[in-house]
Amino acid sequence: MIQILENASLKKLNTFGIDVNARYLCLYKTPDDLRYLITEGPLQRDMEMIILGSGSNQLFTVPFKGVVIHPVNDSLEVVSEDADHVYLKAGAGLEWDALVNYAVTNGWGGIENLSNIPGSVGAAPVQNIGAYGTEVKNCIHQVHLVSFSDGTLKTISQQECKFGYRDSIFKHQFKNRYLVDSVTFKLNKKPVFNIQYGAVSQELEKMEEASLQNIRKAIIEIRGQKLPCPTEIGNAGSFFKNPMVPECEVLQIKQKFPELPTYQADNGMVKLAAGWLIEQCGLKGFSLPNGKAGIHKNQALVLVNLGNATGQDILEVARIAQVKVFEKFDINLEPEVIINK
Ligand code: EPU
Repeated sequence: MIQILENASLKKLNTFGIDVNARYLCLYKTPDDLRYLITEGPLQRDMEMIILGSGSNQLFTVPFKGVVIHPVNDSLEVVSEDADHVYLKAGAGLEWDALVNYAVTNGWGGIENLSNIPGSVGAAPVQNIGAYGTEVKNCIHQVHLVSFSDGTLKTISQQECKFGYRDSIFKHQFKNRYLVDSVTFKLNKKPVFNIQYGAVSQELEKMEEASLQNIRKAIIEIRGQKLPCPTEIGNAGSFFKNPMVPECEVLQIKQKFPELPTYQADNGMVKLAAGWLIEQCGLKGFSLPNGKAGIHKNQALVLVNLGNATGQDILEVARIAQVKVFEKFDINLEPEVIINK
């Protein structure tokens, strides 16, 4: 049976650790739960609704007046396999890194570069999480959904997810229409290591050999050096997307700032490092006069809750970074984090 809490705190359900209440917090386990919410529960009242995994990509700036649906299904099973691949189905509520650890321990490759990313399995396809040269889209086989109109199940293929950089159909056409119930991953029994990313290859040189376990270890080490652990310092990883800029504009910026790091993308676009742009504005380690929120000292793309910050404090830091970067480089920084206003 579904659990419905009224006026519940979301403090433990967002990695910024912002203390706001939701009018209703509903713990979702099965499609029957959703059907109940639609037919007899608060969703029948046509209230605003969001799906919240571990809230590792959300910023709450005001109390949430509607219904928060929190998936708790943490099932994990091998549904099929062949000579080369194993198909692993995981519930939306499973912690992302528990899945990575399980895959690596069993010798199945594909998601090891995504080690230690905070968040849940259900959020991974929504955001097309990515790190160290890998995106989760490369290992997603199918996504299993439940419809908000009638609670029926639907399975879609990898292609149908329309994955892009930190983007998918779940942020657009499917937003508020479907809930991710579970995801089937296609993992490699004969792993091909993806270790071109500079910091990863350097870290691996200190180890005996490249293996799934060692890649996982290397990535946990690198993340630990740069990214604050959300249980110690509230944060949501990269706050902004790395901006995509047309090649011709980049040449102009490079004339003024020759050290600008650039990464070739598709269609004549170049990806810039938002963290570098923010650091160049002198904001690395910045904090608000009230000391509650700021920018991390090791990674300028990460905004941090320095103690009892409100969502408005974090938003103020974001605004300062956007204004300064625009003034200096004429580039707009677009938040990657979803802002609930
Ligand atoms: N840089 C700086 N100063 C900073 C931060 C970065 O100069 O304060 C420079 C770095 O020296 C490097 C470049 O910017 O030349 C890129 O930095 P980094 O390798 O740390 O990666 P990122 O572009 O800042 C992206 C993802 C991260 C992911 C890393 C590693 C986005 C928005 N972020 O960050 O993802 O872990 O690459 O692959 O694409 C997340 O999405 O929450 C996240 C943490």
